[in-house]
Amino acid sequence: MKLNQKEVQLITELKNQEQLCVQKYDFYAAQAKDPELKNLFKKLLKREQNHFDMLENLLNGTVPQIKNKTPEAVKYEPKATHAGDQKSKEFDKFLCTDIIATEKYVATTYNNDLFYFVSTDVRNVLNAIMTDEQNHAEMIWKYKVANKMAA
Ligand SMILES: [Fe+2]
Ligand SMILES: [Fe+2]
Repeated sequence: MKLNQKEVQLITELKNQEQLCVQKYDFYAAQAKDPELKNLFKKLLKREQNHFDMLENLLNGTVPQIKNKTPEAVKYEPKATHAGDQKSKEFDKFLCTDIIATEKYVATTYNNDLFYFVSTDVRNVLNAIMTDEQNHAEMIWKYKVANKMAA
């Protein structure tokens, strides 16, 4: 599979975006007060690293395999785990709201970019990653609802 110049440019920008997501989840996992939220951020960090690797594969001419799996958000059933005071809860709420905004932005970027791609296989990969990003946002949203941070 050979990408044209515009496609290479778009994938490279998406890769930078994924790099930023990895760094954000790493930073936020370190900052979060609730251990459950720390774990969620650490888990999503690995998913973003996987996206980064998939894009790297595309740049190297290999189309990564897409696994047909149940979306993680379906299985994620968070409980009200936040044991901190109001201030620490507000802090974690901010982290959640901010990273959801990032996920929304990244998902939208994938949706816009994939229209420029020639290969159906590559479009399918980008579409799968976009769906993952929606799922990440949904998991964090579920955490917010369970912990009464969603208002
Ligand atoms: Fe991602
Ligand atoms: Fe994501």
